[in-house]
Amino acid sequence: MRIPEQKVEEILHSADIVDFVGQFVQLRKRGKNYVGLCPFHNEKTPSFTVNSEKQIYYCFGCQEGGNVFKFLMSYKKISYVEAIQEIAGDLGINIEYEENKFGVQSETEVLFDINEEAARFFSNNLLKSAEGERGRLYFDNRKIKINSIRSFGLGYAQTKRDALVNHLLEKKIDIEKAIELGLIGRTDKGVLYDRFSNRLIFPIFSPNGRVIAFAGRVFETSDNMAKYINSPESKIYFKGRILYGLSHSKDEIRKLNSALLVEGYMDLISLHQHGIKNVVAVSGTALTEDQVQLLSRYTKNVVLLFDADNAGIKASMRSIEILLKQDMNIKIVSLPAGEDPDSFVQKFGKDEFLNCIQRAVNFLEYQFSIYESSGKFADPVSSTEAIRELVKPIGLISDELKRSMLIKSLAEKFNLREKLLESETEKVLKNLARETGRVDKTVSKEEALQLIDKSVSEREKELKPLLKLEKEILQILLEGKSSILDYIFENIDVEDFYLIEHKKIFELVRTMNQSVDYFNVNSLLAKLNDETLQKYCIELSVDKYRISDKWDSNNVIENEKSAIKHAKDLVRKIKLIPIEQSIRDNFEQIKSVKDEKLQIELMRENSELNQEKKFIEQKYS
Ligand code: UTP
Ligand code: MN
Repeated sequence: MRIPEQKVEEILHSADIVDFVGQFVQLRKRGKNYVGLCPFHNEKTPSFTVNSEKQIYYCFGCQEGGNVFKFLMSYKKISYVEAIQEIAGDLGINIEYEENKFGVQSETEVLFDINEEAARFFSNNLLKSAEGERGRLYFDNRKIKINSIRSFGLGYAQTKRDALVNHLLEKKIDIEKAIELGLIGRTDKGVLYDRFSNRLIFPIFSPNGRVIAFAGRVFETSDNMAKYINSPESKIYFKGRILYGLSHSKDEIRKLNSALLVEGYMDLISLHQHGIKNVVAVSGTALTEDQVQLLSRYTKNVVLLFDADNAGIKASMRSIEILLKQDMNIKIVSLPAGEDPDSFVQKFGKDEFLNCIQRAVNFLEYQFSIYESSGKFADPVSSTEAIRELVKPIGLISDELKRSMLIKSLAEKFNLREKLLESETEKVLKNLARETGRVDKTVSKEEALQLIDKSVSEREKELKPLLKLEKEILQILLEGKSSILDYIFENIDVEDFYLIEHKKIFELVRTMNQSVDYFNVNSLLAKLNDETLQKYCIELSVDKYRISDKWDSNNVIENEKSAIKHAKDLVRKIKLIPIEQSIRDNFEQIKSVKDEKLQIELMRENSELNQEKKFIEQKYS
């Protein structure tokens, strides 16, 4: 059952966001906008803004934003569908549901449905099939109760290597899509097989509780097989942006205003079973900035519970840096050697576990004790080195007060002059500024992450202007002026974009522009089911008002002519960037290659490129 898209549109256009938000937040009119105290974070001066023209809200303090659906979802912690139902009810609009037919669904909906079907299949195998007895025994041995199995949707994938293939074929599911999701593989000879066969299945949920990926654990660990395998990234699964268990834990995290960060799936499930429900797991990858950002929407207080082995210590140290950068408050728990949260809580029980949490130390003490136990304070030389290392993370904290308090405590600990430590911190700050300076401030986090992935600083420099341009183009698209939209789509192709997220937004706007009477950000948001993308679009569309409270000024798009000129400018620039890049690359090569023929070939190429460049300059001037 689903709500027809037209109905969603109708509800969206009938609901006035100002009226609606006004029921929950006291709003004051300021210019074209309404402002109030943000209900999503604590503040004394209003930075929560509702724009009636765009029908969106945005908080300049905590960056929470969206349309009226998103508001209700966040405010009442309900699902998308529930939000639509509630607003429809409010407006007296009657919803007629339609059957789920793959044909009329969006692409991501299809992917979600396939995952859901697979999850159901794995779960039935575990709970109902004869072969599933193996899986039931396994979880029983690990003291996982039936309630946990149900609530986390755990499953069993048969030893037969085509069980899921056959099931999906029977259900007439698009196998290519199942391959895209990494559920099914295809050998060189074209034979389809189950990628997760003979494993215990842990579905991975989005924060809203939809199945976006799977992890599969082997029954018996061995050296030649990965203990866990994961779904690859897909249109609905971005590894670095997901925290395992968040959908199950977010309410409790909010309530207790604290989150325990563990490493593994079993750790999380086991703790939940013992009534400790404010837990999320990083699971597999190193903690990313996006994950921290996601978590920071629920709490700023994090307790790290990583394994006490070397890998665990390394992971904690790295995680501490990433958490500090986003001003999270961090405590670290060291469990006895050889225990992970799962084994500990099973062995010693909830109270003993909570005692451990009580004894959590702050990150300075933690790092200090690690250095101490590795003998770094034994002689003056390594000791100086260690103190320097201790100062480093302090430099990452942007809150000045917090920083100076930590410096004080460190100075006391070592009987050092505070000034000395301060100057060390200054150094770290300068380095940091230099490092992050490479990534332009106007480039968003996602982009920055992508850039870091590239890790070659040269590449970063090349990409910076392109990404900025891409953003500007999307920004004018999101303004929704139809003549501009038409102009852009006539002249720019999705291939002109570099960043995958930008491509996605561009494509979606294009399709929407073709199918609806008029396009606006608000209906775009309703079509995006990726929360990060949603947020990104909102940021894009409010970005240029960020500098001051000139949210109302529409300078750029004021009149048709200057708007088209602006669009033309952007088109020219984005077309020129790759050409100019190739010219530069060729030029470099000409300088370095010895082969004369090749040199001539490259020069010829460059002269063609120069002609193309001229052509574009003329066409879009
Ligand atoms: P561990 O090896 O510590 O396993 O990996 P675990 O969580 O204690 O698992 P059990 O208790 O043996 O079942 C910690 C986490 O790292 C990821 C998983 O998320 C795992 O829970 N991991 C580990 C992988 O993704 N792949 C692997 O091969 C191993
Ligand atoms: Mn374990």
